[in-house]
Amino acid sequence: MKRIRINTPEGKSILLMGGTVRDILPLLPRKGLFIITDTNVRKIYGSIFPPGEVLAIEPGEKSKTLAVAGELCRQMLEAGADRTSFVLGFGGGVVCDVAGLVASIYMRGVRHAFISTTLLSQVDASIGGKTGVNLGEYKNILGTFRQPEFVLCDHEMLSTLSDEEFRSGLGELLKHGAIRDRNLFFDVAAAADRLSSRDPRILGDFIMRAVRIKAGVVKRDPLEKGLRRILNFGHTFGHVLETHYKIPHGMAVAQGMIIAAELSVWKGEMPHSELRLLQVTMEKTGLLTDYRLPAGVVNMMAKDKKSEAGSLNFVLLRMVGKAIVRKIPVTELQAFVSYYNEKQDSG
Ligand code: GLY
Repeated sequence: MKRIRINTPEGKSILLMGGTVRDILPLLPRKGLFIITDTNVRKIYGSIFPPGEVLAIEPGEKSKTLAVAGELCRQMLEAGADRTSFVLGFGGGVVCDVAGLVASIYMRGVRHAFISTTLLSQVDASIGGKTGVNLGEYKNILGTFRQPEFVLCDHEMLSTLSDEEFRSGLGELLKHGAIRDRNLFFDVAAAADRLSSRDPRILGDFIMRAVRIKAGVVKRDPLEKGLRRILNFGHTFGHVLETHYKIPHGMAVAQGMIIAAELSVWKGEMPHSELRLLQVTMEKTGLLTDYRLPAGVVNMMAKDKKSEAGSLNFVLLRMVGKAIVRKIPVTELQAFVSYYNEKQDSG
């Protein structure tokens, strides 16, 4: 098992890469443990849950609501949770986002940690201290920053993921390469077929490389005032595609990355040859869709967290492996969306 530390002024987090549930038992309290999970994860891993009160939500994005977080808090109160209680989120991205939020608001905050069971949460969602739920169709509008005390990434657990969930995680893995490590991007794409065998050693190496990137960025900017924005590459268009077409997060992000790369070329920030390279490489991973951007996309994006006074802080690429952030007026984005959709329509 390898350890990566994220130390920030607001809190510290230890990422335990490649360990097992047995490794984290000494880190948990003997009393007052509340395990927040989903019904699928409980079915698969219930027998190895540490001793504690289990609260299971329905799997999937529909559980990322304030009502579900409130209901979990109510169940904790009824079961006698107090300020000394400890929340362990055991699951994928939705579980970690909701459990993290519950831990940060219950009685103004209790200790928490995660056991991360999906590729998407091991490379992204469980790491870095973002918590959140959606507000209607708007993603992660309600949330907090709060570092989990530890995150266990047991790569053996990835063997139980559906193909769709697994591929969704590949999207976030590729994103880390695209924004900060050109070699990682091309290595993941070249290994995509091999990775689907779920060999924990091969996966573990790639996950480690992505998590090192994320941890390095989060340490420098834990509250997303600047640099951390690059982790949102592909997410502004991606969130709209995810909500509108009901596609898995990582696949929406993969398509969002291509659209953001098109925008980078349109803005003159990146040569067209890099866009082609990104596109051809990602096509081979089977992650791309060819959805049009839906009507109202710019209005939806303007309600995203990246929007400020009529402009959006948009993550673009200079080249594969180097992201930059530029303020783009909403009016300019409207013109780009028309250009992009016309291009899609003309095939
Ligand atoms: N998922 C982006 C971030 O954690 O900042």
